[in-house]
Amino acid sequence: MFADADGELRGVTTAASLQRVLEHYFASDWNADRVFVTGDLVQDDTPGAYDRFREIMLPLKMRMHCLPGNHDVRDLMRKVCGLPPFSYCAYEEFHNWLMISLDSCISGEAGGNIAADELDRLDHTVNSSSAQHVVVCLHHPPVAMGSAWLDTVGLEKGEEFLQHLQSLAKVRLTVFGHAHQPYDAEHCGIRVLGTPSTCRQFLPDSEDFAVDDCPPAYRRITLHSDGSIDNELILVDA
Ligand SMILES: [Fe+2]
Repeated sequence: MFADADGELRGVTTAASLQRVLEHYFASDWNADRVFVTGDLVQDDTPGAYDRFREIMLPLKMRMHCLPGNHDVRDLMRKVCGLPPFSYCAYEEFHNWLMISLDSCISGEAGGNIAADELDRLDHTVNSSSAQHVVVCLHHPPVAMGSAWLDTVGLEKGEEFLQHLQSLAKVRLTVFGHAHQPYDAEHCGIRVLGTPSTCRQFLPDSEDFAVDDCPPAYRRITLHSDGSIDNELILVDA
């Protein structure tokens, strides 16, 4: 988002594009309980951009779990996303699932890592929970995306992080943002999902930065109480 309602990112008016995604959801017969917002909410570092995000998202009238991306300004984001119905890097237990959002950002850098205190928070939350299944949300992909430029700004020691999730024995799913393209695979026994942006996408398998014509998108994820997962990628035509 931009503070300016007409703000454009690589030729896409981002507020209108997000609005279109929400309209698609409202016109569908699929009803969500929660939203995962996986970072990079703003482009212009302004409080007004977060206010715009809030204004567009509020009609969803459900709890929205938010976490920061490398384009976010933590202090500004916390002021908006720390207030209900939003939550900021929080956790929640819901129908035998623990949902937890992590901060994978490094100030001033595009790439990310999971700092030791954030990993401790994850461990403590998972080990204290009576939920049998866990979904971990973060901004940076813990896997190689196959794009040289993008893989230099992914999650440091992603494989180690996934092995750590596996060692917690209850993590079934991890969800990331940042990559602006679809991803769906299993690593270390954990389903790993990435979802294209609600605005402009990045070209998959590209050596250098390049944008893709793929439309805005969102992903419908169903977490069953037995730990199984269904998901569907929804592309929203302009
Ligand atoms: Fe990002």
